[in-house]
Amino acid sequence: MAKAISTIGILTSGGDAPGMNAAIRAVTRAAIYNGWNVKGIYRGYEGLIHNEIKDFTTESVSNAVTKGGTILKTARSKDFMTPEGRQRAYEVLVDQGIDALIVIGGNGSLAGAQTFAREFDIPCIGIPGTIDNDLYGTDSTIGYDTALNTIVECVDKIRDTATSHDRIFFVEVMGRDAGFLAQNSAIAAGAEAAIIPEHLTEKDQLDEFIRRGVRKSKNSSIVIVSEGKSNGVGGAMYYAERVRNEYPEYDVRVTILGHLQRGGKPSAYDRILASRLGVASIEALKEGQRNVMIGISDDDIVYVPFNRAIKNDKMINKELINVLNVLSI
Ligand code: F6P
Repeated sequence: MAKAISTIGILTSGGDAPGMNAAIRAVTRAAIYNGWNVKGIYRGYEGLIHNEIKDFTTESVSNAVTKGGTILKTARSKDFMTPEGRQRAYEVLVDQGIDALIVIGGNGSLAGAQTFAREFDIPCIGIPGTIDNDLYGTDSTIGYDTALNTIVECVDKIRDTATSHDRIFFVEVMGRDAGFLAQNSAIAAGAEAAIIPEHLTEKDQLDEFIRRGVRKSKNSSIVIVSEGKSNGVGGAMYYAERVRNEYPEYDVRVTILGHLQRGGKPSAYDRILASRLGVASIEALKEGQRNVMIGISDDDIVYVPFNRAIKNDKMINKELINVLNVLSI
């Protein structure tokens, strides 16, 4: 029979995302509501290995729902990628009397939880927290909506100056290997095109934009470019340079939005999503679930096994691509 849970540990890992604090608050309060103890683990897996852990009370998370970043701090731990690091992390959990672990993070963080749960007998529950929205099995990840709104606000401003100067702007947005932020911000900001990693091998998206998007009547354009994190091509600089070389008649500028996309107060949507997923993570543990990510699908809570959440490529809806194409004529 599985060991009864009386104490849970909670950590945030990988890139921070607005709404993580709302999730920490929800997990903490739902656990306490159910009579469990909560331990906050600082700096993700790195802090777990180094025993940076504090008891959490309901007051520890007061007002957290409104705050950006993560009050638990975060890190990308190299040590946790080694068997020795994970062994040490397990020993710390045992020493601290932690019976289950809640991990809030993106792809890499949940992959870490999956490996850990395979090696040691500790129930792990994942909560999708990343602005990239690249986890399979959930319609949205915590932070994605806020980041999308931040990008749109910035692009609206860039539009003003692009129009005044008749310029083409390549605006680079985050997303790692996923184009959700780029595609949807392009639609919402009325951009002329989006260049996304999902389509890199299919066609030359720049050529397509030049042929289709830059018309005589339209002297300014905005192209949202997904960062080329690991695809070898890409980034706004690359496309701007190509235009300078191949179409010198255009006046081109680049804006890289960078980490401002990860900051700021979470949107109402992200706060509600994080609160729901946090409460559901405790319900899942009560039901004896382990090694699943809590997701939301068609407005219902779902449990997604780690291997499905992190391995399957979450597809961009083709209809969104069509919408942008139709509207940017
Ligand atoms: O995964 C979230 C994310 O913001 C990605 O969009 C981006 O590629 C990466 O993290 C940046 O990581 P760092 O903050 O370590 O530079």
